[in-house]
Amino acid sequence: MNEYDSELVRSILIKENYEFVTDELKADIVLLNTCAVREHAHRRVYGRVHNIRHERGKDSLVMIGILGCMATNLRQSLLEDRSLKIDFIAGPDSYKRLGQLIREAADNGQKAYDVTLSEFETYSDITPNRTDGVNAWIAVMRGCDNFCTFCVVPYTRGRERSRSPENVLKEVRQLACEGFKQVTLLGQNVNSYRYENHDFAYLMDEVSRVEGIERVRFTSPHPKDFPDRLLDLMAANPKICKHVHLPLQAANNRVLNLMNRTYTKGEYLKLVNKIRSKIPNITLTTDIIVGFPTETDAEFEETLQAVIHAQFDSAFSFKYSERQGTIAAKKYPDQVPETVKTDRILRLNKVQNEITYKKNRAHIGQVFEILIEPTPQDKPSHHSVGRTGGNKLVILSKKDYKIGETVQVMITDATPHALKGHPL
Ligand code: 5AD
Ligand code: SF4
Repeated sequence: MNEYDSELVRSILIKENYEFVTDELKADIVLLNTCAVREHAHRRVYGRVHNIRHERGKDSLVMIGILGCMATNLRQSLLEDRSLKIDFIAGPDSYKRLGQLIREAADNGQKAYDVTLSEFETYSDITPNRTDGVNAWIAVMRGCDNFCTFCVVPYTRGRERSRSPENVLKEVRQLACEGFKQVTLLGQNVNSYRYENHDFAYLMDEVSRVEGIERVRFTSPHPKDFPDRLLDLMAANPKICKHVHLPLQAANNRVLNLMNRTYTKGEYLKLVNKIRSKIPNITLTTDIIVGFPTETDAEFEETLQAVIHAQFDSAFSFKYSERQGTIAAKKYPDQVPETVKTDRILRLNKVQNEITYKKNRAHIGQVFEILIEPTPQDKPSHHSVGRTGGNKLVILSKKDYKIGETVQVMITDATPHALKGHPL
């Protein structure tokens, strides 16, 4: 979502005649688009700001602006921190005012900020300035009303609001004309999309009908909003990628209840079974938090067992990180010790990595349609890379493919992180 928001910001500022440079050292204004979801992301932003100030020297006139969730969450402390010397701050619903904020900060030398959250702002009238050539992110809803007790997003991004299907479709048609082959529908809680009487399944169906778009993805859904209609559509529609990212967070019912996830372990696993029975080749991925306040060893063990049972293709696992202002921070201050969290995450990762590797190896000998993507910087440039519909990264044995091309590939090898294949 932040990548997408940065594309919106680029578009908004280009309209105001700002020019973008890729080299941070040449910029007069540096914008940092921030995430507040875990402490780690916070710390990195402080580090980056200090680096910029250091690299540019004491007398430099470079202006630094903080965008995104950290802006909403930490406005006061960011502005008061003398060593950071932040010039302006804009929360996720204030990007249209950025030009004005920059001018206010430049002209008056005063710290300018706007972190107001809106019930309506969806940026549906802004076309993001996209750089990638294959996948286009498109936020169809913003905000979250779920209030999971650990999560700061409902406070930093405000209430749920959806864009009209017509407006989304107009943008998707334009993207197809520009040569994008894949769209990923985004939302903090994407399957809660609702516009008048239109739900998420309707939107997905309509988007998939746009000529030129070959793949439709979405992220991230909440397990509470998975009607059969959506699963049946996914099963029947070849353009909808067979990948569901289904955050589990934890498997013990007491912990799930404290987290306000609104499902039980049984309900979650039943949904996994249903998804698998309707869409047998689905890639299932998840998010897990270890060490939620008061989580016992036995309760963590249940998460581990559920992970083994569910056989996720991969998982993002996180140590619980207390966020100011959340319900958990107020009601459940008893922290699980850091050493215990570390031990749990290591155990979880070990179990999941073995499953991921086993699942990847099971693809050897299978043939997939791969959509070629730009080669990531950490991959050798003499290979082409692409993804399966299930979102698995495939490294091809040849490099002569165009970005956006679709290639039939036989999988010949697998690592814990990617598949390797020969084009047919
Ligand atoms: N601590 C640790 N992980 C968190 N997440 C959200 N809030 C926290 C937190 N306070 C994780 C959840 C979510 C993912 C995006 O980040 O697993 O699904
Ligand atoms: Fe946070 Fe829960 Fe909303 Fe996801 S569904 S953004 S975890 S409050």
